[in-house]
Amino acid sequence: MTYDRPDLTLITSEVTPGALRWRSPSNIALVKYWGKHGDQLPRNPSVSFTLDGAATDTTLRYEVREQSGSGVDVKLSLDGVHNDAFSQRTAKFFERLLPIYPFLKQLSFAIETKNSFPHSAGIASSASGMSALALCLVDLEGKLFKPLGNAEFFEKASYLSRLGSGSACRSVYGGAAVWGKVDGVAQSNEEFAVPITDKLNPTFQTYHDDILLISKSEKSVSSRAGHQLMESNPYATARYAQAKQRTGEMVDILRRGDVEAFGEMLESEALTLHALMMSSRPPYLLIRPNTLAVIERIQEFRRETKTPLYFTLDAGPNLHLLYPHADAEQVKSFIREQLLFFCDDGMYLADRVGKGPERLEVNE
Ligand code: PMV
Repeated sequence: MTYDRPDLTLITSEVTPGALRWRSPSNIALVKYWGKHGDQLPRNPSVSFTLDGAATDTTLRYEVREQSGSGVDVKLSLDGVHNDAFSQRTAKFFERLLPIYPFLKQLSFAIETKNSFPHSAGIASSASGMSALALCLVDLEGKLFKPLGNAEFFEKASYLSRLGSGSACRSVYGGAAVWGKVDGVAQSNEEFAVPITDKLNPTFQTYHDDILLISKSEKSVSSRAGHQLMESNPYATARYAQAKQRTGEMVDILRRGDVEAFGEMLESEALTLHALMMSSRPPYLLIRPNTLAVIERIQEFRRETKTPLYFTLDAGPNLHLLYPHADAEQVKSFIREQLLFFCDDGMYLADRVGKGPERLEVNE
């Protein structure tokens, strides 16, 4: 399959300046994608919940480029301040998209982006950031050429998000999404994610995910380096097979609404991800002593109260705490009374399963 479209060029005299704005959320993997090949293709399937509060709000302003030079013309500001590193990263991303969107080199872009969570919080913003940008671009295609149908629109946005940051492709749908080929999930494939929102048991539609910020420091090993290290990991083959099987099982658990089976797999996935890091060559550790202290408290709380509170981890030390809405009050007191002590500056973000991205009015 290809989205390459050499015909998507503009008659620039007919283009007036404009802007588009999308808010797109982050997502949390329940079964993790870890290891990639080719052009950002996953070594194994994964499934995630789309979040609600942790999101990026991006405005894409465009006008005809005065002098069409080589490459693309992109400037990006984060929270109102020009950001050189992100401008360059975005320009690289746009250049990569030129076979799909050749018109990108005929325009000048000013991108304004802001995250709903503090930039320094140590929460990965690539999934929300890349998906917000991809949604603006597919929307722009529709404005300048021909609008896509609803399903096509989100498939293409997912595809473009994937090229920016693999796991971002799952953020364009509300509820839950699968990326990679899984038996029993129609149309599932490696190139873009598919929604499984209609398969989500009501218990999971209102699930909570509170993010505890254990450390705000920069990670010692990036996700990109981590994926690369999977190529020489001695357990890689077994892991990819396990994740493929588990993604199918997790989709079934989400449909059944089995919170215990969910939690068991969730925690095993988190620990397996970090075990893969520890068994890489060279090995490395991203969890911190406070990550372990919190894990022990959660297990103790679960034993004592029988509340189905379970954790997961991203590629970092921060913990996501997942639990049903019915237990929200009890879990929130537990977090405040026993866990915030272990968080960097006592910071945490109360989040939940969300409805997916939203197109917003542009502020003039
Ligand atoms: O999308 P990337 O390249 O930042 O990789 C993210 C991988 C994990 O967050 C650890 C797991 C996942 O599936 O999101």
